[in-house]
Amino acid sequence: MSEDTKKKKTFLDRHAILEKNATLLLVGSFVVVTVGGIVEIAPLFWLENTIEEVDGMRPYSPLELTGREIYIREGCYVCHSQMIRPMRDEVERYGHYSLAAESMYDHPFQWGSKRTGPDLARVGGRYSDAWHVDHFANPQAVVPESVMPKYDYLARTPIEPEYIRDLMVTHRMVGVPYTDEMIDAAVTDFRVQVDPFGDYDGLLERYPGAQVRNFDGQPELTEMDAMIAYLQMLGTLVDFSTFTADANR
Ligand code: HEC
Repeated sequence: MSEDTKKKKTFLDRHAILEKNATLLLVGSFVVVTVGGIVEIAPLFWLENTIEEVDGMRPYSPLELTGREIYIREGCYVCHSQMIRPMRDEVERYGHYSLAAESMYDHPFQWGSKRTGPDLARVGGRYSDAWHVDHFANPQAVVPESVMPKYDYLARTPIEPEYIRDLMVTHRMVGVPYTDEMIDAAVTDFRVQVDPFGDYDGLLERYPGAQVRNFDGQPELTEMDAMIAYLQMLGTLVDFSTFTADANR
């Protein structure tokens, strides 16, 4: 027997100890997985780009947050994603790929896993409010081959901000930085966002860039207003003409 094979045999013999002792094998596996886990996960806590703050991001205004609730209630995420992947075909169709920070106030996130319809992460400003009203009333009237169902009842369902404060308090519990002032003003902010003649300075101060207008074109405040307010702000908060994706900024 050569010197070399003799060495190998002793090594394999030692490994047999592990193979024959279940407890030792478990302990060994645990150590290996722990080291592997630390090596993979720990650097993320120090890498700046996993926790980067992005200018322009703010919590949803009360009306937008309500629109988002209706989006979830109606199951829009079953057919629509809200996450643009960094691949050329997606970026050319939908715009800049989605940043982690863009869903930092989403509880739960709306990334979705199925695209029967297009991604909606940057649908804000792509169409007029009137287009959305017509499209929800009867998608096939706008896009004949569409398989999207009708949501015409949104325009016939008035809403009151009765739960908005509770909703914001709940979001605050999971980390959205709603201040007491925002929660106190929630009901007023909710109503004033559809009233271009109202006093909406406070709303704009609390939610910079909030769009104020009568979204559904009807005198009453309906679920359609909330839904369109939400859609029209999606993807509009971060200014990508000045944004630089640099972890070492
Ligand atoms: C059964 C699947 C399905 C469901 C559910 C659905 N959609 Fe759609 N949606 C589509 C399809 C398909 C299209 C593309 C054709 C069209 O524009 O109608 C579309 C298009 C859209 C568009 C236009 C996007 C663009 O960039 O052209 C918007 C906005 C939209 N949907 C919003 C919603 C909202 C909000 C809901 C929930 C209230 C919803 N959809 C529910 C399938 C669906």
